[in-house]
Amino acid sequence: MKTLRIAVDGYASTGKSTLAKRLASALGYLYIDTGAMYRMVALFAIRNSWASPDGINAVAINAALDQIHLGFARDAQGRNRAILNGEDVEDAIRSMDVSRVVSAVSSLVPVRRRLVAQQQAMGRSHSVVMDGRDIGTVVFPDAELKLFVTADADVRAQRRFAEMDAANPGSVSLEEVKANLLQRDKEDRERLDSPLLLADDAIVLDNSKVSPDELFDQAMQLVSKVS
Ligand code: DC
Repeated sequence: MKTLRIAVDGYASTGKSTLAKRLASALGYLYIDTGAMYRMVALFAIRNSWASPDGINAVAINAALDQIHLGFARDAQGRNRAILNGEDVEDAIRSMDVSRVVSAVSSLVPVRRRLVAQQQAMGRSHSVVMDGRDIGTVVFPDAELKLFVTADADVRAQRRFAEMDAANPGSVSLEEVKANLLQRDKEDRERLDSPLLLADDAIVLDNSKVSPDELFDQAMQLVSKVS
């Protein structure tokens, strides 16, 4: 069987990860959440006082990249866990503190170079489903299938709020979540290095009005055409 790369790009909280995880599991491919990698770098920066909503210390973050080891593991239930320097940080990276600074951290060119190289290495020997912002444009411009997932801002905010509120009841408001999503979309779209763009050959899937099952079926039909 040939090695396939499936890129799943799109704005924040469109349901990309849910779709990508499900595709990977159905196909027996590796699933890679590249947003988690940028979130881990952002968490490392926050812990060292190099990132806050007031700004980031780009020089310090760029100089520390050799000390940041990123990995993934599965827990007993088979769920993905993000591992930063040996520590399970899956819950910590989903916090609003990280969401507030991650777009700024991910705009640093040395950070992107480092993470993109790691992502490309992961896709070299395995079939992968990788979700992010620049997978179809920069990481795997020759991916066999490129999906770009969109959804209405209100649907996305509600979805993200429900996840965050379930993990930490009362910690955030719906308005705060929506404002953060829109701000990140803007920063991700406007950054100079590898901005969030729709690749010419990407197929847009709108997740505003379909169920997770319908979205998955649409994607699987597209996969069947390239595999
Ligand atoms: O997918 P996510 O919302 O967890 O991603 C968090 C941030 O990481 C997102 O706002 C922008 C950045 N990111 C990126 O720049 N490139 C990627 N391939 C994935 C995420």
